[in-house]
Amino acid sequence: MSEFEQSLSWASQFSVDYLKEVGKQRVVPQVKPGEISASLPASAPEESEPMSAILADFERLILPGITHWQHPGFLNFFSCSTSEPGIVAEMLSATLNANGMLWKTSPAITELEQTTLDWLRQWMGLGHGWFGMFHDTASTATLHAMIAARQRIAPEARAEGLRGDLVIYASEWAHSSIEKDVFVAGFGTNQLRKIETDPVTLAMKPEALKIAIEKDRAAGLRPCCIVATVGTTSTTAIDPVAEIGNIARAENIWLHVDAAYGGALAVAEEFRWLMDGVEAADSLVVNPHKWLFVPFDCSAFFCKQPEVLRQAFSLVPSYLQTNDETVNLMDYGIPLGRKFRALKLWFVMRNFGRQRIVSILRDHMKWIAWLADKLCNDQRFEVTHPVTMGLVCYRLRAGDAATLSLVDRINASGRFFIGTAQVQGRPIIRTALGNLSVCRETIEQFWQLLNAEA
Ligand SMILES: Cc1ncc(COP(=O)(O)O)c(C=O)c1O
Repeated sequence: MSEFEQSLSWASQFSVDYLKEVGKQRVVPQVKPGEISASLPASAPEESEPMSAILADFERLILPGITHWQHPGFLNFFSCSTSEPGIVAEMLSATLNANGMLWKTSPAITELEQTTLDWLRQWMGLGHGWFGMFHDTASTATLHAMIAARQRIAPEARAEGLRGDLVIYASEWAHSSIEKDVFVAGFGTNQLRKIETDPVTLAMKPEALKIAIEKDRAAGLRPCCIVATVGTTSTTAIDPVAEIGNIARAENIWLHVDAAYGGALAVAEEFRWLMDGVEAADSLVVNPHKWLFVPFDCSAFFCKQPEVLRQAFSLVPSYLQTNDETVNLMDYGIPLGRKFRALKLWFVMRNFGRQRIVSILRDHMKWIAWLADKLCNDQRFEVTHPVTMGLVCYRLRAGDAATLSLVDRINASGRFFIGTAQVQGRPIIRTALGNLSVCRETIEQFWQLLNAEA
């Protein structure tokens, strides 16, 4: 066997064992900052090292510094859940290492990208007319949406730059990537309006949005883009997309929907309502790498007006010119090079089938409801926000210090990893599920520990 064959078979056995055994490890490693880099040589080797030594160091030096996102007890943030077909596809994609910047630089990359994203559109119950492409993350996808919005409202900006009069609107609970994209795209954070939300649901108030737009128009500014969120990060609040869409259409403002996390749930028929109103949007982002079991990174970006993306992004030097009439994905976004992300979505969609994915999502929703019910029926806890997706938010009635100390104790156990957020001036505990490894028993054991520690 060649060294390559030996290391591949080691890696495939490692993947099988890791996914089986990951639950036996601590979720979060016990390493101090700088410890891992201190264990590594200061410079790279001059001479070749055998793969056996590199793999041994991977186990000895790197694995102890890994936070195990695939651990059933990983209940923090939103999960990034891998899966067996996704892992195989990643390996094949690295083997081909083909670059899909143009159709002709790998026709299958462009065509499978369009096909799998059209499949995903259908799974989420969306109508025809959406052009799909992948980005690495939702942050990047939303940046593209904002630049497309700028192109439609202020086409002169591509040549002249921004004049500081374009305004972006998002809920005060929109993900931080919205604000980051606003300054990265050059709008300036002074041009971002954080729209007031309902105090209970934390969903954007359409009347507040309308007033903000009127005020900006009266001041001679140009409303450019609204970002509505389906499943905010802190509490999974759902903005009223249909009402927001009516405003966007009446005002000719680009509407982008951030369903990075929540969009996955629309694959189950009973949650299709989450996409109500999305048809009126100009663009949408959903992350299959969050809750659709596709290995990171895989962010699905949909746009109703691909021609605006082309106007915003196309720049073709002589060495990239083609004579064919095909879609060249480099014309629709910032990156030139394009990895074969479609392969992993294709493998996952086919190997799972919609039915299995729906059944997993339903289980997750059942287990989170079970946990929320336990918390609601316990005097010590207060469930702070409606449970709309795979996340429950709560705190101890004993106070904020007690709440934060409870989180520290749960995380110190090494068995679970939960998080916090600051909402309406007070901390909440966020407990979110989405891993393939999580099961009913995990959540029961989590409740036992929480109960004991509280
Ligand atoms: C609602 C929402 N939007 C955007 C993002 C950013 O996602 P990404 O890491 O893909 O940029 C997140 C991350 O959790 C999110 O929850």
